[in-house]
Amino acid sequence: MKIPVNKIAIVTSGGDAPGLNACIRAVVRSSCFYGIKVCGVQRGFEGLIDGDIIDMDASSVSNIIHRGGTILKSSRSLQFKTEEGRAIAFRQLKKAKIDALVLLGGDGSFAGAAKFILENDFPVIGIPKTIDNDLFGTDFAIGYDSAINTAMQVIDKIRDTAESHNRIFFVEVMGRDAGFIALRTGIGVGAEAILVPETTTDFNHLLSVFEKGWSREKSSMIIVVAEGDEEGGAFTIATKVKQKFPQFDTRVCILGHVQRGGSPTCSDRVLASKLGIAAVEALLEGKTGVMVGEVNKEIVYTPFNKAVKHHMNVNENMLRMLEILSA
Ligand code: F6P
Repeated sequence: MKIPVNKIAIVTSGGDAPGLNACIRAVVRSSCFYGIKVCGVQRGFEGLIDGDIIDMDASSVSNIIHRGGTILKSSRSLQFKTEEGRAIAFRQLKKAKIDALVLLGGDGSFAGAAKFILENDFPVIGIPKTIDNDLFGTDFAIGYDSAINTAMQVIDKIRDTAESHNRIFFVEVMGRDAGFIALRTGIGVGAEAILVPETTTDFNHLLSVFEKGWSREKSSMIIVVAEGDEEGGAFTIATKVKQKFPQFDTRVCILGHVQRGGSPTCSDRVLASKLGIAAVEALLEGKTGVMVGEVNKEIVYTPFNKAVKHHMNVNENMLRMLEILSA
């Protein structure tokens, strides 16, 4: 049944990502456009449970499109994982007379939202944001493009110093369960090898890459390692390589949270704006329990349970490209 939507709330949940502010702006401005009241939940689901909700209007989101982070702040809420916590969150929404929620989240947040809807029959529309890009139902999640550009710029700098000293660098990028950051960044920086959780790391193959590079007298090598690689991350892999090739001068660099900060790229700002508008329009059409995404430039709606359970497969063509280019 389609229920009237007079007031909506926005919440940013889970790890932050560049482009969240651009998306908050789009949700607020499109709500104003359609004459709906809009408010912001502070500190993710933790703030919702505490009733930390503020009114917003068109001016609340002035001059934020270019800023990293989230003006609403975020959290990884343990309370929202419990039925009791979700019931309190529902009561807070009712108390604030909110009719629907726009959730900017990743897989953990969407899994929680799916349970919340079943228990409380409350409309929620999701917008994908995660630098890891590991959601099904969108080609790109908000934040991914900015993160890979940040990683690429940093690794280009690492290449300069690696060249000067004839070194091998093991650079660890984010991606707990997925290698999308590693793969795209690795191709972008001309890496010699890319290690991702989706494929089994063939250590002998890795050693043959070094042997080939060594025989060709390469003056630097960059190995991009996704943090979730089953071999155990950049430090572990570097140690193993050093045991086998003590003559190599190796270094490790962990990029870490630098990838989550900074001004969003233009692609992320436009994607965030597009999905923010689409989320408000989806609520007005009576949709709920779905994530709005963009596939082949079209807006698509994917049920939360499907968005989180069907991770995109690793792009085999990227691995083939690496094979050809890294010789
Ligand atoms: O949001 C995804 C992510 O950036 C992962 O790539 C990373 O493993 C994790 O978040 C880090 O989370 P936290 O900021 O809570 O340490």
